[in-house]
Amino acid sequence: MIALGCDHGGYELKQEIKKYLDENQVAYQDFGCDSLEATDYPIYAKKVARAILSGECEKGILICGTGIGISITANKFKGIRAALCSDCFSAEATRLHNDANILAMGGRVVGPGLAVKIVDTFLNTPFSGDQRHKNRIAQMETE
Ligand code: RB5
Repeated sequence: MIALGCDHGGYELKQEIKKYLDENQVAYQDFGCDSLEATDYPIYAKKVARAILSGECEKGILICGTGIGISITANKFKGIRAALCSDCFSAEATRLHNDANILAMGGRVVGPGLAVKIVDTFLNTPFSGDQRHKNRIAQMETE
């Protein structure tokens, strides 16, 4: 199950991503927002982060205007690794190396065609499982 969240700056791109997920029979839960009306991205970042940490959802996709505020918020949660990506190379690398559990994107940064490819790459790339990457991920969790 994929958790989706966005603010008004990411709403239109989220609709495009939902079309892709529907076409590919990928199950998702949409945690809002539900319109272009101005709202606050931390609300949705927190909902998606909590859904992943509870085990309700396996991965998440968060979108705001830039992808920055929403990813910063999600990364405040221990165990969340939200990667802001605007290209497929980064989306692949962050799964292989960081075992990222949230993909963040900017609705005002990437167009729908590229965004769908980034989502496809992110969802279909497994974590490498390499010990060096596991060690580095473990180090993220301590100050
Ligand atoms: C909203 O205007 C915008 O600030 C928000 O979507 C995001 O880009 C913040 O990081």
